[in-house]
Amino acid sequence: MSDSRPIGVFDSGVGGLSVWKEMIKILPFESVIYYADNKNCPYGNKSPESIIQLSSKVVDFLLTKDVKSIVVACNTATAAAIDHLRKNYTIPFIGMEPAVKPASLNSKTKSIAILATEGTFNGKLFRETSRKYARDVELNIEIGNDLVDIVEKGLINEQSTYNYLKQVVKPLVDKDIDHLVLGCTHFPFLIPVLQKVLPENVKIIDPAPAVAKQTFRVLQQKKILNQSFQKPQYDFYSSGQTVVLESILKDIFGFDIEIHAV
Ligand code: DGL
Repeated sequence: MSDSRPIGVFDSGVGGLSVWKEMIKILPFESVIYYADNKNCPYGNKSPESIIQLSSKVVDFLLTKDVKSIVVACNTATAAAIDHLRKNYTIPFIGMEPAVKPASLNSKTKSIAILATEGTFNGKLFRETSRKYARDVELNIEIGNDLVDIVEKGLINEQSTYNYLKQVVKPLVDKDIDHLVLGCTHFPFLIPVLQKVLPENVKIIDPAPAVAKQTFRVLQQKKILNQSFQKPQYDFYSSGQTVVLESILKDIFGFDIEIHAV
C-alpha cells in the first residue's frame, strides 16, 4: 500500500526545521507541510491549557491540507498537548522525546545536562524519562527560554549570543558534564556556538535524527509510507514573521522556498 498524502510538522516557530531537515533525509519521497506558529511563539512559558488550544488549532489547519500524520516538532507542545491530540484525532502523532536515555547510558563522568523550556521540564514526559533513565547520573537542568527568542529572532551568530551561551553553560561545565541534551528544537541551530563555548569532551545530543527515524517507523507500521518514488513537495506556512524562517531555509539548508502567511 502507498499513501502520497503529506506529513504535517509543526512548532511554535523555526525550531521544528531542525526536525524537518532530518525527516527529509530519511523520508526522501514524502511531501511535508510545515507550520510555524510564530505569532504565538514562545510556547515555553505558556500554560498547558493554552498550548493544547494552540496546538489543536494548528492540527485543524494541517488537517485541511489532508496530512496523513503529524510530527509535533516541539518538545514543549509534545509535553503539554500530545496526549490530548492522540485522544482527539485519529491520525498518528509523533512527538519529541528528551534524549536523556542515550546521554545517561554513555556518560563517563556520571553528570549530564539538559537544556529545555520551562514547559518541557514541567511535563510528565520529562519527569518519567528522567526517573527511568537518569537514576545513576546527576541530571542538571537549565531553562533556556531566552535562547528560543535568540534563535527566533535570527541572532545566532551575534557576539552577544556567544557571550550569553558562555554564561549559560558555565555552571554545567563546573558540574563536569560530558553530555548536553538539547531538549528544545530551536537549540540545534545554536550547535556551532555551543561547540565553541563547551569543552571538547562534552557531547551535544540533538534528538531530531531519532525522531525522524521514529516517523519512518510509524509510517511503515501504519502502512502509510509513500511508495511512489516521486519528487516530494515541501510547503511552509507561518502565522507570523517569515523572514527568519526563509533565511534558515535558504542560508543554512539551501532551500529557496516561499512561505505562505496564514
Ligand atoms: N521549539 C520548542 C521546543 O522544542 C519551543 C520553543 C518555545 O516556543 O518556547 O520546546
